[in-house]
Amino acid sequence: MSYIPKTGRRDFIKKSTQAATLIAALATPTTAIEVLKMQEQNENRVNGKKKIAIVGTGSRGSQTWGRDLIRQLNDKVELVGLCDINFTRAEFAKTLIDTQAPVYAAKDFALMLKETNPDYVIVTTTDCFHSQYVVEALEMGCDAICEKPLAIEADQCQDLLNAEVRTGKKIITTFNVRHMAMAEEIKRVVASGELGKVISVEFQENLDIHHGADYFRRWHGKSEFSGTLLLTKASHHFDQINWTIDSEPETVHAFGNLSYYGKNNSFRSKNCRNCSFKDSCKFYWDITKDQFMMNLYVKGEMEDGYLRDGCVWDNSIDTYDTMTVQVKYKNGVLFSYNMNAFLPYEGQKIVINGEIGRLDVSVNYNQPWEVPAENEFRLTKSFGESKTWLVSPGTGSHGGADEKLREMIFTENIPDPMGKMAGSKAGVLASLVGIAARKSIQTGGPVHISDLIDFPRTWGW
Ligand SMILES: NC(=O)c1ccc[n+]([C@@H]2O[C@H](COP(=O)([O-])OP(=O)(O)OC[C@H]3O[C@@H](n4cnc5c(N)ncnc54)[C@H](O)[C@@H]3O)[C@@H](O)[C@H]2O)c1
Repeated sequence: MSYIPKTGRRDFIKKSTQAATLIAALATPTTAIEVLKMQEQNENRVNGKKKIAIVGTGSRGSQTWGRDLIRQLNDKVELVGLCDINFTRAEFAKTLIDTQAPVYAAKDFALMLKETNPDYVIVTTTDCFHSQYVVEALEMGCDAICEKPLAIEADQCQDLLNAEVRTGKKIITTFNVRHMAMAEEIKRVVASGELGKVISVEFQENLDIHHGADYFRRWHGKSEFSGTLLLTKASHHFDQINWTIDSEPETVHAFGNLSYYGKNNSFRSKNCRNCSFKDSCKFYWDITKDQFMMNLYVKGEMEDGYLRDGCVWDNSIDTYDTMTVQVKYKNGVLFSYNMNAFLPYEGQKIVINGEIGRLDVSVNYNQPWEVPAENEFRLTKSFGESKTWLVSPGTGSHGGADEKLREMIFTENIPDPMGKMAGSKAGVLASLVGIAARKSIQTGGPVHISDLIDFPRTWGW
């Protein structure tokens, strides 16, 4: 792969080199006066639309934050630029979105911002590059909208917080789970007081041999790109719990194994198309049957070596498929989290134990038996009754959560009684739980979140 991984922790030499490369990429260095001029122009927009530029035009960038955003909010948003390390993919995204916005190479990211002057930069690259694009966007006078995980290393979290203070610009983290009907309902029950004070939380993330395996076919399986599933996947869940119980994680202890994918098989190949074990491998996937995948990934494969149908048995896979994480919160809540990525069915079990009751939630995504609904709720009162109800997921992508999230981001003064808008603090805290868990797995001991970075004083740490 010709990605430029950013792996070092507090590796200042490497960071300086990367910064120098990004600055060198500018055709003309941007001065503070130019940035101010760009901000002024933004304020003087004539059509009232927010100008957006997207970096990372893969699945999420081309669909959720490209085509679907423009379709949904054409009156509020104007796409002005697309940028990716892979030009073929970016050109396909341009066609998919049906836009005239120009395409820029990754090395011309700063040039794109200078020439197109966006209000927001939407960052949907591979996880390890999020922070450097967000920081540069802020430096150039834009606000940033970033996919989860906001960062995969502690020093990246620090860079993001420092950049926000330094520039006065804002980061939005796109935690769409907060907008899912199931997550809203859990938050409502907790806030209603029916459980009393929350004492502990249990969360089982069950990923099946289809969805779970898909993370091991591509960059998510390599920790230098994804930070492990503790970041690329679990940051959703860590944020959901931080938000639901309205507290901050304090100490993390975790264990993790790679027990199923990667080295755990007797045969392997580079990818499915070229495999000699097509007939015997249960994970064989013929990407050539999916024209969208062919257009988005395979057609541009020669440019960057990104194999979308990579082998799940690849020996270089180093991200855990089995994880257990314990978190102690500032408000005393104990949280127990498990993720397995190779299961025969897919869903979640979420339990909130309160002083006067327990909430059991089953989220049924894919299972070989009949379920009454996607979301089954049971509330049992101590010394009292137990009641059940069903919550339908809603329609649209991620049960309509993506639509609601986009609406909330781009509609001014939209009411947010549940506090669903997530900024840098939420993004950083969710990432830090994953980073602390990974560190705990590596060191075998507990990790204190406050030892990972210097928090802004306003956070009261
Ligand atoms: N919130 C959600 O529900 C959700 C769902 C899926 C993915 N995501 C997140 O969205 C992001 C994108 O995921 P995806 O599934 O679209 O992945 P993807 O692999 O389809 O797309 C990533 C894109 O980033 C580009 N890229 C890689 N390195 C780059 C660099 N240095 N500079 C510029 N571009 C670069 C790749 O060429 C590719 O086009 C990830 O951070 C992922 O965690 C979020």
